[in-house]
Amino acid sequence: MIKKFFDALNQPLGRIGVLITLLVVFSAAVWGIAQTQKPPEQPIQFPHNLHVGVGIQCLYCHSGALRGASPGLPTETKCWGCHQQMAITNTSPLLKPLVQAVENNQPINWIPVAQVPDFVRFVHRPHIAAGLNCEVCHGNVSQMTVYQNPQVLNMGWCLACHRAKTEDNIQNNPGRDPAITAALATKRTKLTDCSLCHY
Ligand code: HEC
Ligand code: HEC
Ligand code: HEC
Ligand code: HEC
Ligand code: HEC
Repeated sequence: MIKKFFDALNQPLGRIGVLITLLVVFSAAVWGIAQTQKPPEQPIQFPHNLHVGVGIQCLYCHSGALRGASPGLPTETKCWGCHQQMAITNTSPLLKPLVQAVENNQPINWIPVAQVPDFVRFVHRPHIAAGLNCEVCHGNVSQMTVYQNPQVLNMGWCLACHRAKTEDNIQNNPGRDPAITAALATKRTKLTDCSLCHY
């Protein structure tokens, strides 16, 4: 029985069968991984590229990035401020859910995608004050439609940047100044301490 099976596998058709089985398993795995990386289906296929392209600032829609606890997502009222005056609002199928939300006075339930777990402390303000652009962490949003994370927002990613910013190298300390060396070391201890990010 088993020998017959292996004999069959050795026939050209048998080998093709094995190849097909392997391909199916492999593509299913790739598809499965792609699914976990894919952005969720948002209630509106919001085109970042169009809006950033006409010069609307990130902070106009995500104003909490500087002030609040989190950047926040715009409500239908903010969208409507522009879209009630635009002809395309009544003709575009993409904008139908917005019109419906406004008519029914219902919020748009955006699905969050840029998120760290609750046990992690992350505040935008100090990062932006340190001169980091939104794009450093969120990728080239001006080329995106619906937002997608450019990388996994995990601990290794946070620490890699915190270490890079506190390395005693030519970029951070061009004059090899001992005072700066000491300051960088102190900052590195602070920025890599578990309690900085974990409550
Ligand atoms: C400051 C003004 C402004 C705000 C605020 C604004 N939009 Fe727009 N929106 C535009 C402009 C301009 C276009 C491009 C219209 C065109 O191509 O003719 C556009 C296009 C769109 C389109 C593409 C329509 C199509 O068929 O191509 C969608 C969808 C859209 N907006 C959704 C939204 C949503 C949802 C919000 C709120 C989160 C929003 N917009 C907020 C100005 C705005
Ligand atoms: C006209 C309003 C508007 C502008 C301008 C805008 N965004 Fe957004 N942004 C949205 C909306 C609506 C969503 C939710 C849909 C989505 O995830 O794409 C969103 C989602 C996001 C998210 C994911 C948030 C989450 O967890 O769900 C990030 C990050 C983001 N935007 C960054 C930016 C950056 C950076 C810029 C400037 C380059 C920008 N946005 C400009 C409206 C806007
Ligand atoms: C140092 C990296 C970094 C920079 C710079 C940064 N962000 Fe974020 N952003 C994050 C992380 C990490 C999260 C997830 C935070 C959380 O879950 O609390 C996030 C979450 C967000 C969200 C979704 C959170 C929400 O309120 O729903 C938006 C929107 C956003 N960022 C917009 C921006 C904008 C706009 C800028 C530029 C003004 C910016 N970010 C700059 C790392 C960054
Ligand atoms: C691209 C670089 C970069 C990334 C990515 C980054 N950080 Fe930071 N972070 C900084 C810098 C620079 C500072 C220091 C600001 C200062 O004090 O000069 C900082 C400071 C902090 C602080 C201290 C803020 C304060 O109040 O002094 C916390 C907490 C923090 N980061 C958490 C995180 C977490 C959590 C992540 C990942 C989810 C992260 N950071 C990702 C660059 C980064
Ligand atoms: C700069 C911010 C930062 C620092 C410093 C940091 N962490 Fe984290 N940590 C994170 C983020 C973000 C996550 C959630 C994402 C992930 O699981 O990687 C996390 C997740 C974890 C988890 C859960 C892992 C899991 O698989 O769910 C543990 C445990 C942890 N950290 C322990 C530590 C310890 C111990 C230290 C000190 C040596 C430390 N962390 C320092 C940002 C940080």
